[in-house]
Amino acid sequence: MTFAKRHLLGIEPLSPDEIRTLLDVSDQYVDLNRSDRKSGQALAGKTQINMFFENSTRTQASFEIAGLRLGAHVMNMAMQASSIKKGETLIDTALTLNAMHPDLLVVRHPQSGAVNLLAEKVNCAVLNAGDGRHEHPTQALLDALTIRRAKGRLHRLTIAICGDIAHSRVARSNILLLGKMENRVRLVGPPTLIPSGAADWGVEVTDDMSAGLADADVVMMLRLQKERMDGGFIPSEREYYHRFGLDPAKLRAAKPDAIVMHPGPMNRGVEIDGTLADDINRSVIQEQVEMGVAVRMAAMDLLARNVAAEAEGVMV
Ligand code: NCD
Repeated sequence: MTFAKRHLLGIEPLSPDEIRTLLDVSDQYVDLNRSDRKSGQALAGKTQINMFFENSTRTQASFEIAGLRLGAHVMNMAMQASSIKKGETLIDTALTLNAMHPDLLVVRHPQSGAVNLLAEKVNCAVLNAGDGRHEHPTQALLDALTIRRAKGRLHRLTIAICGDIAHSRVARSNILLLGKMENRVRLVGPPTLIPSGAADWGVEVTDDMSAGLADADVVMMLRLQKERMDGGFIPSEREYYHRFGLDPAKLRAAKPDAIVMHPGPMNRGVEIDGTLADDINRSVIQEQVEMGVAVRMAAMDLLARNVAAEAEGVMV
């Protein structure tokens, strides 16, 4: 078993073996979550603080449930209500919390790099729950687990990631993870929503849905992140749906058994047809949410084991 990390800040620093370890432990937690017992002791007596400086439904609930199921004391700080925005204030908050001796700090922040900065200032394990456009490692891991369970493997697959790539930390973490595991990744979207330099990431880029989806095993749709746009990225939502929204007709270009994914929250009728999103024969969107709890249990379990091992002078 390999997972020699103090924090989970992104996919970038993880090796393929570390990713496999995280997914293997997650599989065990999927079984636990489906059982009647649904609880473990891996985080018994630990204190987990969730600091979400940006709105979140599923990620925050998922981290909270994951901690509670493993016996941690979980505290949610109501960050949205506060006016904390500046880097300096973030560090002050981190130092204040650090003085209370938490074991796990789960942080979502609108600025790219803010969570890494915070991790340098505290003694406990830090998990990035999404920082700006940078990374969202647990989302990429839960997507990987969903794909591995649906397809029976996580290599040599063709995966089309479609839509607003430019503003998406989900896309970035997924591109890194799927590339490390040797898959073929295609980015599909209007040129205004594809970051410049994307062609250097080892991915194929196209603005044509039928070319991008051709023979794909996995079609991953992304939300149009309007809160990160300052105007002019798309002509209109209607036109965007016409060209880039996933519907049964566009999906026909993919393999007949291709799965449809979306990290949520969804804009039905903008990036995806609502009926297709609910079609349990094609869409694995609810499985993604289920896998999210297991992945977060695994990540916090492994980090807590490393903290314990470090205290004894050895890492797993
Ligand atoms: C994503 C996020 O916050 O980056 N959502 C999530 O965590 N499930 C994607 C999004 O907001 O569109």
